[in-house]
Amino acid sequence: MSKNNDEIFKNVISHAKEYGFVFQSSEIYDGLSAVYDYGQLGAELKNNIKAYWWKSMVQMHENIVGIDSAIFMHPKVWKASGHVDGFNDPMIDNKDSKKRYRADQLLEDKITRYEKDGKTDKANQLQEAMDNALKAEDMTALRDLIVEHEIACPVSGTRNWTDVRQFNLMFSTQFGAMAEGSEEIYLRPETAQGIFVNFLNVQKSGRMKIPFGIAQIGKAFRNEVIARQFIMRMREFEQMEMQFFVRPGEDKKWFDYWKIARLKWHTALGTSSEKYRFHDHVKLAHYANAATDIEFDFPFGFKEVEGIHSRTDFDLTQHQEFSGKKLQYFDSELNEEGKPYGNYVPYVIETSIGLDRMFLLTMINAFEEQDLSTAEKKDSRTLLRLHPCLAPIKVAIFPLTKKDGLPEKAREIMNSLKIDFNCVYEEKDAIGKRYRRQDAIGTPFCVTVDHQSLEDDTVTIRHRDSMEQERVAIADLEQMIGKRVSWRNLLA
Ligand code: GAP
Repeated sequence: MSKNNDEIFKNVISHAKEYGFVFQSSEIYDGLSAVYDYGQLGAELKNNIKAYWWKSMVQMHENIVGIDSAIFMHPKVWKASGHVDGFNDPMIDNKDSKKRYRADQLLEDKITRYEKDGKTDKANQLQEAMDNALKAEDMTALRDLIVEHEIACPVSGTRNWTDVRQFNLMFSTQFGAMAEGSEEIYLRPETAQGIFVNFLNVQKSGRMKIPFGIAQIGKAFRNEVIARQFIMRMREFEQMEMQFFVRPGEDKKWFDYWKIARLKWHTALGTSSEKYRFHDHVKLAHYANAATDIEFDFPFGFKEVEGIHSRTDFDLTQHQEFSGKKLQYFDSELNEEGKPYGNYVPYVIETSIGLDRMFLLTMINAFEEQDLSTAEKKDSRTLLRLHPCLAPIKVAIFPLTKKDGLPEKAREIMNSLKIDFNCVYEEKDAIGKRYRRQDAIGTPFCVTVDHQSLEDDTVTIRHRDSMEQERVAIADLEQMIGKRVSWRNLLA
């Protein structure tokens, strides 16, 4: 990470705390590693990202419905899904610092360093060797690469490494009040399984016809060994997942469809498409026959925000086997087409985006420190250039002064606008200072009530990005703001 990017990232993190977006969990007790709380503005921004995803998936697709399944699930679910046996990370310990690392991440950091130093050949070579070792689940080969490339522990600086071992990432807890009668269950490491086990419930009760999708947003838990980069890798996080059930043989077509559709969802927010790239998986998860990541150019390099996986019929077949219940679809249309089968286990294309990563991406993308200095005076502002649909607060309403009936008039406007939009009212400090505060939290519009407002029912509306101000009728505010913050801008 160059110093500049490093600084930007640090500034975003401290900005997120200063303005009430993200706090460390249990901060007064010195925090809990890789667990974070969303503050008053963070909760709003997160809700808006969720709304954008839910609307674009569920509301905009007649053949996708949304559910909300429980975090606790029958322990057999995770046996069937392969998570008990296969949800592992390759870990290595440094014997001097006693710190534990993910072996593949140590290697990835080295690859990034080679790339930064212009050693592209070395980077490519190491990437290929690492991919091969991961694919073969060859822990000795991974360790050999760490030794060969002289990777040292960032804490102790030594290369005194243990062997590489597999480490399961699921959290477990006791279910049931009595220790004796209790059973060990897991906190779900992905929301997807809640969708798979409800496949028939939803299909039958919703009379869904293939192809159709089931979406859900919810918490997931992973005992990540290395928690890094703020809310990028957390132990408790949120996912927005959609499983799209298709006919066997049509999986490739739908995989390609969802790749494009999901990238469009990201770029509709106005982000340059150069900030995104696909990264096709070499080492496929145990359930997939194709997988790609949508990666974003974070200050610490291109990293995964979303995964699109072609999961075949793996999950439903496994649940059939472990539960003894049939999870098949009767495709009457297929029979009409004279094709050989009517009952089958559908194939699945999954889109899975981390809400917290999307939140971080949104903050980083929007964060801007602008120099507004002129020959006469030095000036600057910190701006969150959030898409108006995502902005936590849409309108700030300011009386120019605290007297002459201006606060009353401003309150009147606030009371009317707050029915449709999230608004704040502020009368403290000079107007310039109030503008800056709203710029810093991404509020797209500031409305100022002045003496003229009392005479002709007009106000000034100030636009966040251009800082331009215009005089408008109070009666027009609702429509004007409504147009700019309408979901139509993103979904149409
Ligand atoms: N159901 C498939 C699945 O869970 P994944 O690639 O392991 O696939 C999907 O996770 C997304 O969840 C990732 O692209 C990432 O955005 C997010 N994610 C995964 N682990 C995370 C963590 N520890 N902290 C924050 N987000 C995480």
